[in-house]
Amino acid sequence: MTRLSSAQLLLITLTVLVYVTSPPYVAAAQAELPRGFKAAPDPSIQTFQPLLTDPTGNFSLGFLRVNKTQLALALLHVPSSDPFWLANPTQLARWSDRTTLLFNGSLVLLDSQSRVFWSTHTETGDRVAILDTSNVQIQTTQDNVLWQSFDVPTNTLVENQNFTSTMKLVSSNGLYSMQLGNDFMGLYAKFKPGSNADQMYWKHKAMEVKAQVVEGKGPIYARVEPDGFIGMYQTGNPAPVDIQPFMTYPRLINGLRKVRLEPDGNLKAYYWGGSNWALDFQAIDTTCELPSPCGSFGLCEAGNSSCSCLDNQTEFRSGECFPVQSGDFCGSGWGEINSFWVLRRSGVELPYKELMGYKTMSSYGECERTCESNCSCWGAVYNNGSGFCYLIDYPIQSLVGVGDESKMGYFKVREGAGRKKINVGVGVGIGVVCVALLIFIGVVGVWRFRAWRRKRGGAGKRFMGQDGGVSPGPYKDLGSASFKSIEIVGQNS
Ligand SMILES: *[C@@H]1O[C@H](CO)[C@@H](O)[C@H](O)[C@H]1NC(C)=O
Ligand SMILES: *[C@@H]1O[C@H](CO)[C@@H](O)[C@H](O)[C@H]1NC(C)=O
Ligand SMILES: *[C@@H]1O[C@H](CO)[C@@H](O)[C@H](O)[C@H]1NC(C)=O
Ligand SMILES: *[C@@H]1O[C@H](CO)[C@@H](O)[C@H](O)[C@H]1NC(C)=O
Ligand SMILES: *[C@@H]1O[C@H](CO)[C@@H](O)[C@H](O)[C@H]1NC(C)=O
Ligand SMILES: *[C@@H]1O[C@H](CO)[C@@H](O)[C@H](O)[C@H]1NC(C)=O
Ligand SMILES: *[C@@H]1O[C@H](CO)[C@@H](O)[C@H](O)[C@H]1NC(C)=O
Ligand SMILES: *[C@@H]1O[C@H](CO)[C@@H](O)[C@H](O)[C@H]1NC(C)=O
Repeated sequence: MTRLSSAQLLLITLTVLVYVTSPPYVAAAQAELPRGFKAAPDPSIQTFQPLLTDPTGNFSLGFLRVNKTQLALALLHVPSSDPFWLANPTQLARWSDRTTLLFNGSLVLLDSQSRVFWSTHTETGDRVAILDTSNVQIQTTQDNVLWQSFDVPTNTLVENQNFTSTMKLVSSNGLYSMQLGNDFMGLYAKFKPGSNADQMYWKHKAMEVKAQVVEGKGPIYARVEPDGFIGMYQTGNPAPVDIQPFMTYPRLINGLRKVRLEPDGNLKAYYWGGSNWALDFQAIDTTCELPSPCGSFGLCEAGNSSCSCLDNQTEFRSGECFPVQSGDFCGSGWGEINSFWVLRRSGVELPYKELMGYKTMSSYGECERTCESNCSCWGAVYNNGSGFCYLIDYPIQSLVGVGDESKMGYFKVREGAGRKKINVGVGVGIGVVCVALLIFIGVVGVWRFRAWRRKRGGAGKRFMGQDGGVSPGPYKDLGSASFKSIEIVGQNS
């Protein structure tokens, strides 16, 4: 570290002033990206670095900083700082000055080792543009569209965006998805990671008032309409086969409309009121009908929507009753992977039981034994009135508490979860040894790295290119104050 002289300080201050006030840097984001465009994230930007902005200035494509160190290529609704679309939602890049976005026909995001992280795979594109609808397009000079972000939605649809039966809307936490069937719209939960048999928890079948779904006439698609509804259409017929009206239907609203699959699994519609997003529709109206409002092994009271735990001993705090569990009890692994203890609770029901398969059985005992003997079964809920036995083949999520004691539940809890202390001595011992070993390796590693760096002298100095079109400067309108609250997970404006 060298001490800065006052002359140096003055120079730095002047540079910063010029940088902030001179026009070319203020309007950093361009109207379209030509072939040969290249940009890297600016280490000094804490929130969002715009690269390309639409003609109205409402939408901007750029680098969004997530959790301080990570980077998403994102399309932002500028007035609300709300990300509408992410190029790489499942895997984020690093916010490092060696991460690069380039356009060479394909729009490509390279990680710090210059590996292709994400690409549009459009070799012959001539420019990247954003339309005033928020659609990012790769176009040719003949105005052909080779790729558009509207075809690969993330968790949000905007008005006039076609949602087809090959697309999927996925909530920011990756747990929930929306898809179209042959005559319905469905919401699905990924309660069993690794399996593609997702559990449907909400289904809206086309009402077919204005038009019928004709078999063999092509798939259906959905669209958010400017006058306030989600329409479902069959390809080739402009009359809707279904209308799900919003509260403002059938009014044309001044502000933009969006529909989002939220992290709690609800599907909600909003319109932009000029300073905030106003809620206009939600698919699921009551908390307890959400797929898992109280987390795993939670209980949602139907009367007042309050959360507690399925076992009466555990206190409900911040969404978890037992540690999140996964897999099943069929493995051939060692130890307690396959063993479980049993939790029984009456007066409970599954929140979306109409969408679950069931078997009719003569008694609760039969229902329980069917689940007990099946290693892929996690629990069963029996209705003593109807004789329906619902078998649950994923780790237990929230149940709904109902007054009716003739609805009985049987649940498997993985050994070691919730019942600490018992039979886990060996596991804990091994864990402690492993952690100690890791810490030792870490300490030695850091020590050796420091020694190596001392030897190399100033080699660790950060590279900061003095621009030249490579990394656009801060965009004045996007003052950091409005970005303080940006966080991908849990965004529910
Ligand atoms: C950001 O960090 C929080 C807590 O530190 C974590 O729960 C969350 O999953 C992280 N988000 C992403 C997108 O990695
Ligand atoms: C564009 O760049 C990527 C990443 O370097 C490369 O894989 C791809 O072949 C390039 N495409 C063209 C047309 O040069
Ligand atoms: C949506 O689909 C309709 C009917 O197929 C079509 O006319 C329209 O251009 C599509 N819109 C977009 C943005 O692709
Ligand atoms: C886009 O910006 C203009 C002002 O530049 C504003 O009048 C308009 O309402 C905005 N549209 C949306 C959809 O936000
Ligand atoms: C909600 O209702 C349940 C059962 O009716 C009751 O035990 C619980 O105390 C109530 N919780 C709140 C917060 O009112
Ligand atoms: C929890 O308490 C309820 C009533 O307060 C009782 O019906 C139920 O059996 C108890 N469950 C367990 C697992 O102790
Ligand atoms: C066990 O349960 C799974 C999932 O519920 C089911 O697919 C399978 O057929 C059951 N196996 C037996 C032997 O009943
Ligand atoms: C279940 O139903 C049978 C007859 O249908 C009845 O005898 C029994 O008491 C019921 N059990 C419970 C727990 O409600």
